[in-house]
Amino acid sequence: LTGSKDSVSPVTCQPSGEARLLVQGLRDAVPYIREHEGHVFVIAFGGEALDQPAAFERLIRDIVLIADLGARLVLVPGTRPQINRRLSEAGFSERFHHGLRVTEPGMIAPLTEAVGAVQFDVISWLSARLSLASGSGLAQRVLTGNFVTARPMGVIDGVDLGHTGAVRRVDVDGVRDALGDGSIVVQTNLGFSPTGELFNLRAEEVAESMAVALGADKLIFLTDPLEDLPTAMSLDDVERLLERSDEDALSTEFRLHLQSAVRACSRGVDRIHLVDRDVDGALLVELYTRDGCGTLITSEPYERIRPATPDDIGGILALLEPMEQAGVLVRRSREQLELETDRFVVIDRDGDIIACAALYPFPAERTAELAALVVHPAYRGGGRAARLLAYMENRARSLGLESIFLLSTQTTAFFREKGFADERLDNLPAERRAFYNLKRNSRIFRKWL
Ligand SMILES: CC(C)(COP(=O)(O)OP(=O)(O)OC[C@H]1O[C@@H](n2cnc3c(N)ncnc32)[C@H](O)[C@@H]1OP(=O)(O)O)[C@@H](O)C(=O)NCCC(=O)NCCS
Repeated sequence: LTGSKDSVSPVTCQPSGEARLLVQGLRDAVPYIREHEGHVFVIAFGGEALDQPAAFERLIRDIVLIADLGARLVLVPGTRPQINRRLSEAGFSERFHHGLRVTEPGMIAPLTEAVGAVQFDVISWLSARLSLASGSGLAQRVLTGNFVTARPMGVIDGVDLGHTGAVRRVDVDGVRDALGDGSIVVQTNLGFSPTGELFNLRAEEVAESMAVALGADKLIFLTDPLEDLPTAMSLDDVERLLERSDEDALSTEFRLHLQSAVRACSRGVDRIHLVDRDVDGALLVELYTRDGCGTLITSEPYERIRPATPDDIGGILALLEPMEQAGVLVRRSREQLELETDRFVVIDRDGDIIACAALYPFPAERTAELAALVVHPAYRGGGRAARLLAYMENRARSLGLESIFLLSTQTTAFFREKGFADERLDNLPAERRAFYNLKRNSRIFRKWL
């Protein structure tokens, strides 16, 4: 700089549209990053994923990022298409019994070649990304080992399945030690018996057993899902889908993933995610945003925040009325609620409305009033009001508003803790001031977004 300091024009920091999106994205993601830190996720994908190198490279990049952000990852690659190809090159014809491959002793060599090649491919993709991360994150290395002990399936209906096996035991301590060291564990579908015999396992069963034995927080299938799957499904929903879809409707890969999801869920894995492996960034969106973009299978009652519809009016009234009678909230008639339904959002717990809130924008003043924030007494203390508040703040931001204000008589400390500060009546939009009820003597709060 040659000019004097005085001649340098001041820098104004007005983030561009793209930068604003980034800021919003970070604000949304950080709570999930914290929530997932130290949690164990088992991620399974079919060998089909490796047949799409460009999409697979993006997946590996995202997987390493997730590990770098502190989640503990076990990857279970499937190898079915690779095994099929290698066996056919070696002149073997496929033989299945009750959906299980008959693995003859002569198949072991081509089988280990196929599985070994997938294992080394996955390790090599991961290593390349980990070295790019340059050791700055939490994930450091890739580890694989004899974590799964197998047993033979034996003879079923007179048919000897040979080296086709089932999972007998998972070395939970071994896997946990590896994860605790910052390693990403890769576990293929080969298992060993205590006498060193090698068995061909189903990758889905390996993933499922790993998730159950480790008490994993999530089992994630990167898969080839049906279009238009709902964002959440119960076990019954998945079983119905499997029953009513004929062979052609679901890919073999997806069907196996669904079947495995049902078993894992019934064996105690609470959250199973189905994520489209071909959609760039889908895994990150599923894990680090509120709405996600995959399908969650859970045996827990499913809760979600969503805009209210006219069908919710009864549920909203049932929440508001006791609060209105207690003088905590101002009374709203059913008619008024019918006119204002689109201002409301609700928390729907398996069809029951257990919380609600409303947002009334004043676009000219670039602000909005938050009102009618109620959580059913049986569900208080679980962070639901905080989630509704965050949802409404996002809604206000997306409307281009700069602040949210509210009136409260009995919940002042709660809002202060959430970043609201005292505000004066004079500073409210004139239209709202006109309706201020002096008798209620409510405190006014505002939060700048
Ligand atoms: C206020 C209310 C919405 C909070 O719902 P919630 O789901 O329990 O809220 P969260 O779980 O997100 O937050 C709970 C925290 O808020 C605190 N809190 C709840 N009500 C409070 C109040 N009236 N004053 C101060 N703090 C309060 C809790 O002590 C808890 O704090 P902690 O986490 O440190 O223990 C709920 O108590 C309610 O419906 N109250 C009646 C209606 C009402 O007052 N609405 C606000 C006026 S618009």
